[in-house]
Amino acid sequence: MSMPDNHPRIPGTEAKRVLVAGVTGRFGAIADLLLARGHAVRAATRDPAHPAAAALAARGAEIVRADFEDAGSLAAAGRGMTTVFASGTAHKAGPAGEERHGKNLADALSAGSPPHLVFVSGAGADRPTGLAVLDAKRAVEQRIRELRLPATVIAPVYLMENLFNPWNLAALGAGVLPTAVPPALPLQQVATSDILALAVRAIEQPGVFEGERIEAASDASTGQDAASVLSALLGRAFSARQLPHADLPPGLAALFGWLERNPSPVDTGALRRRFPGITWHSFGDWAFGQRGRLAEASGTAPAPGQPGGKRAAAPC
Ligand SMILES: NC(=O)c1ccc[n+]([C@@H]2O[C@H](COP(=O)([O-])OP(=O)(O)OC[C@H]3O[C@@H](n4cnc5c(N)ncnc54)[C@H](OP(=O)(O)O)[C@@H]3O)[C@@H](O)[C@H]2O)c1
Repeated sequence: MSMPDNHPRIPGTEAKRVLVAGVTGRFGAIADLLLARGHAVRAATRDPAHPAAAALAARGAEIVRADFEDAGSLAAAGRGMTTVFASGTAHKAGPAGEERHGKNLADALSAGSPPHLVFVSGAGADRPTGLAVLDAKRAVEQRIRELRLPATVIAPVYLMENLFNPWNLAALGAGVLPTAVPPALPLQQVATSDILALAVRAIEQPGVFEGERIEAASDASTGQDAASVLSALLGRAFSARQLPHADLPPGLAALFGWLERNPSPVDTGALRRRFPGITWHSFGDWAFGQRGRLAEASGTAPAPGQPGGKRAAAPC
């Protein structure tokens, strides 16, 4: 499977009918990847009038209304589909909501002949951690197994896109690279696009991926390295600083404490060997691809002559 992420679908595989649940969410960009590869996409949102939904409809997706609180709406949306792609909802709904939503989805898909479910969970959710956010994902994974759904679980580590989370923006604007763990500690991270590339493979090859749970990371950079990357890329000095736990909501502080004790759970070498066609972005490569957004988020003018700044060396 050596191919760029935007390659036409894997040779010999059939076009699927894929429900993308929560299409306005952080993994919703999978809808466009699937359309580009010739799959039929049904995109579910609570708000079909959302501009993102209208834009997707213009690109060929069918738009339906579905709410993770309403198992009936999920069952209706999944009807006739070969595949369902979904993630948790922790950021908007909290751990209890995420657990309820994931179980609703699993229950809704369990009747009749269930489609292949490709579900984005989180690294570490395969074992008890005492962390609400991971225990909720673990409960959802357990329900998926109990119902014997044909499923693939993809479990990302810390997303590189977290840099754009609202609580990080003030620091970025002040020339600070906010870190979840001490700035000298390498923390495994992953680019969202790498997770989507992996999910696309799972969707196209259910016979290969069903029953699998794959934890995914693409790099392990320190905050100090990441700050150097941003400084070179945006032409402005950034220094790394750990977010004080006292300033964070308790759940997030607990998660960051856990990350500090479990910074590198994934065998990235094995992942690269198995999936050589996925980019597996280093932080530097990811940042280069996001330079315009990073410049905007930090209030930094792009370096002269470029849309977003200079090419930065990968940190490791
Ligand atoms: N950030 C990380 O580092 C990281 C790492 C690993 C795993 N994860 C996990 O990735 C998952 C996805 O992230 P997220 O929480 O930020 O998701 P999200 O982007 O908020 O996407 C979830 C989508 O679900 C849809 N939805 C439907 N019914 C809903 C309801 N009743 N309440 C809330 N949303 C509903 C929403 O779309 P509509 O409004 O269009 O309906 C929403 O956009 C989470 O489980 C998170 O823990 C994150």
